[in-house]
Amino acid sequence: MSQRKGPFKGRTVAVVGDLALDEQRYLYRKARELKQAVGEGRDTAAFRMDDRDYSVYLIFMEDSTRTRESFRNASEFLGARTNVFDAATSSFNKNESMSDAVRMLYGYADESCFVVRSKLEGVCRSLEDSLGRYAELTGRPRASFLNAGDGKHEHPSQEFLDEFSFLEQLGWRDERIHIALTGDLYHGRTVHSKVDGLKVFAEVKVDLVAPEILGMPQALVSRMRDNGYEVRVFEFLDEYLASRDVAPIWYFTRLQLERMGDTVREREGELRKAVTFRKDMLGLLPEGTRFYHPLPRDRRSPTNPTFLDDLPLNGWDGQSANGYWTRIVLMGMVSGLLGSDYEGEFVAPRSFEDDFISEVAVSGGHALGSKPEHKVGIKPVEEGIVIDHISSGRKVDEIWNHIDAIRRVFKLNLRSSHGVYHSNLGSNVFKGIMSLPDVASFGERDLKKLAAIAPGCTLNLIHGARVVRKYRLTMPPRIYGFDEISCKNELCVSNPAQAEGVTPSFIRKEGKAGEPGTVFVCRYCEREHGFGEIWDL
Ligand code: ASP
Ligand code: CP
Repeated sequence: MSQRKGPFKGRTVAVVGDLALDEQRYLYRKARELKQAVGEGRDTAAFRMDDRDYSVYLIFMEDSTRTRESFRNASEFLGARTNVFDAATSSFNKNESMSDAVRMLYGYADESCFVVRSKLEGVCRSLEDSLGRYAELTGRPRASFLNAGDGKHEHPSQEFLDEFSFLEQLGWRDERIHIALTGDLYHGRTVHSKVDGLKVFAEVKVDLVAPEILGMPQALVSRMRDNGYEVRVFEFLDEYLASRDVAPIWYFTRLQLERMGDTVREREGELRKAVTFRKDMLGLLPEGTRFYHPLPRDRRSPTNPTFLDDLPLNGWDGQSANGYWTRIVLMGMVSGLLGSDYEGEFVAPRSFEDDFISEVAVSGGHALGSKPEHKVGIKPVEEGIVIDHISSGRKVDEIWNHIDAIRRVFKLNLRSSHGVYHSNLGSNVFKGIMSLPDVASFGERDLKKLAAIAPGCTLNLIHGARVVRKYRLTMPPRIYGFDEISCKNELCVSNPAQAEGVTPSFIRKEGKAGEPGTVFVCRYCEREHGFGEIWDL
């Protein structure tokens, strides 16, 4: 059993937000300490575990130079057992799932850390879930999963080295940053990770410079604004420079040709021109400007051309070297080696209330009025269930769709009646009602499912033609575990087409419960979905 007991032990970092801001600051402080100690030839024993029973697996299903090699070197520095997994000749070619492969490798060492790069978005979160369950079952320590880039979603370890580099440039002051992000902001995961990574600065001004088709996805621009950033949008570098309010920190990115569809790729020349720096632009930069780039750059026509290489504004060489220090510390943290001197806040685990199913008091505990309330056709319902207020206030065709969906999902092929009726909320307000005289009860799971399909409805239990129990069902905070839902991002690890066996799961974005237009976020790839979009009905 290892002696490493740091508070971050066994953590997964699938997205930047998996480390709280204080935890990120700790990472930067330790990386700075380490870099200085090495630079000054001081002792670095505190950063070395020298434990061959701690296994680091580098699983790269997409190409890489920097990320793979810096993690490999970082693992060597730490003194862990380092395994460079050969994805190209592995049983992935025999259609093995990620989860099966990793479960195998997990059995080869006492403790493990998996560094995973994949085109599958959300893969580290899904592995954290499935291997977490396996660890519990076997009573073994949890493995850590570090996202080394998943499709166009995130690249958190790159983000940590980027922020470290910006802080270094700014003399470790985190009061404010003014930064320009340019290039392919649509397909590039490094800029997507900036949405949360830049939060380390108290005040953030971001200039997004990209042709519309390569622009930052709207959902991410909104998240930046929600984070309190000032965001400005430009379509090409000349337009940006003409604004005269130009950032002293520029972050270039490569056109992600491998992720583009044909129609975008056909416009490569014109798009590249819009975001390529020219010599005549040099005079328009503020004094002391620094250029960064996650690299690689395209050797045929880089957006930060080679004439810049030997100028003082080249920040990208030092930036890529910082990947080594920050990744030693990141793995040092999740292995439990580092962290005993941490004093900040930890990431709070999110809990989900089950209060979306509430029992409503039925007056006097028995009859509501003296008349039987509900009917099947023209006959009063004596016994059974009535679902009322289905999609109240929505358009009539939507209400019918919801009624139809409820019938199909619960396989209600039995005696019943249903219809769209006036609601007593107004003459133009409609609602659906279903009367099910042959259904005696709805179990808890079915109630949850009904809440997820038709939030806002009420379920009435009828006995002796009277309502004896009534439940109000509102929009749940999570929708998961149903066969009829799926993430609509084809590259998401939970998308059925990927056949990774990952159960789809959605989390409701903050907002007013039950309101139309409520947004759900895929737990894995974080793609936003409208409520209706998650269902395959
Ligand atoms: N190397 C970075 C990534 O993998 C950036 C790039 O490839 O353009 O996301
Ligand atoms: N910055 C980066 O991720 O580089 P590689 O693709 O070479 O790993």
